[in-house]
Amino acid sequence: MYRERDISIDFLGIRLDSPFILSAAPSTDELELAYDGLKEGWAGVILKTTSVEENPVPLKYPMMSSFGPQSRKVTGLGNIDLISQYHIDVIEKRVKALKESFPHKMIGASIMGAKKEDWQSLVHRLKKAGVDIIECSFSCPQGSMGEAPGRMLAQSVEATEKVAGWVKEAAGDTPVLIKITPQVTDIVEVARAVKRGGADGITASNTIPSLLGLDIYTFEPYPSLFGKGGYSGLSGSAIKPITLRTIAEIARNVDIVISGNGGAFNWKDAVEFMAVGAGNVQFCTLPMHYGFRTIRDLKSGLAGYLDAMGFKSPADIVKKALKNIYSHEEIPAPKTRAQLIEEKCVGCGLCYVACRDGGHRAIEWRSGNVPGQDDSRKPAFDEEKCPGCAMCMQVCPVDAIRMKEQMDGRCQYYEEVR
Ligand SMILES: Cc1cc2nc3c(=O)[nH]c(=O)nc-3n(C[C@H](O)[C@H](O)[C@H](O)COP(=O)(O)O)c2cc1C
Ligand code: SF4
Ligand code: SF4
Repeated sequence: MYRERDISIDFLGIRLDSPFILSAAPSTDELELAYDGLKEGWAGVILKTTSVEENPVPLKYPMMSSFGPQSRKVTGLGNIDLISQYHIDVIEKRVKALKESFPHKMIGASIMGAKKEDWQSLVHRLKKAGVDIIECSFSCPQGSMGEAPGRMLAQSVEATEKVAGWVKEAAGDTPVLIKITPQVTDIVEVARAVKRGGADGITASNTIPSLLGLDIYTFEPYPSLFGKGGYSGLSGSAIKPITLRTIAEIARNVDIVISGNGGAFNWKDAVEFMAVGAGNVQFCTLPMHYGFRTIRDLKSGLAGYLDAMGFKSPADIVKKALKNIYSHEEIPAPKTRAQLIEEKCVGCGLCYVACRDGGHRAIEWRSGNVPGQDDSRKPAFDEEKCPGCAMCMQVCPVDAIRMKEQMDGRCQYYEEVR
């Protein structure tokens, strides 16, 4: 057990005892679950998206499917869930109850409306109930209430600005987050629209529209509901690289607070989200998969990292990596070659096969079968043929290959530390 240390942060004027909160999802869709999550140590919750009483929510089950290699089934989780079946009358009561039990935790709620009056009445009612922060779902990939049927609200720059404006007008000094989708032509335009609308921050992002898979013998999609299925919202580790890029691109171009969400599965992922610009990090698939207790690992991992790096607060990580992110034209072009770290190599031959059929045939295999020759079963790299593509490095199971980069008389080694 790691010793206690302060990992609190300020997020839009709200004190969070750690940067880690539970995002709008099944884990926050029952009072008891939200209560247990906060009791276990999460810094806050965003209650699952709610709507006005008149709004139908036709949920369908089963609503989950997943994909991943055999060793880890849930690399990505897909769902055809909608917003909460509980309308605002229930959520008002939950906000009050949670605020009473946890006055020092962040109690947030997510909303979705079809017209101005809905958005604004949802906000007024939540404010009266004592909510700390309001998140607006502009990006549910299934039951959309956007401008056009099937379109997510955040896919329209104009609608994003307009609706963000309505919500902020009603919210006054209560902070408002707009939850966007990365599935747009220009994420920066959307982020600018959120800012023009007056919202305080962006939740980047949400699940990503996907088709999880098919039974190739019946041709039914997963999940199959009496043989029929459709598109799912993809979450979990599979979408982390998309979220990282989305956060980075917003942070590089728009001065606005960001809540990172989508694919964080451990404290290291959270550090990456923060390093590209997130002020805090939301989790959904991780606690759904491994339980609320995962907060313990998140907190102790982050605490240890801060100590090891000499950072005083998690806030010191925010935007740390942005200075190293460039467009392709601006990235330097060093002379690069693959290099073996001899003592790590176990002689499996995976690098040889990958280079032979997916690289530049720059590896010779010292098989040990030829009398009188070296019998070490190790790869030998041909510097003339190798342009340093790094395919061999990606397949080596024991990280025995690194890239040697040379430029302007300087040399450095690229290894992926994860
Ligand atoms: C079953 C399920 C239901 C969800 N319901 C909502 C919702 O009602 N409102 C919302 O804004 N996001 C909803 N989400 C999206 C999550 O809040 C989160 O943005 C997404 O899962 C990505 O984060 P993760 O990779 O940590 O899971 C839901 C996600 C799942 C898996
Ligand atoms: S870097 Fe690419 S070309 Fe060079 S040895 Fe590795 S796989 Fe082959
Ligand atoms: S993949 Fe790695 S361990 Fe396997 S032979 Fe190549 S360098 Fe050695």
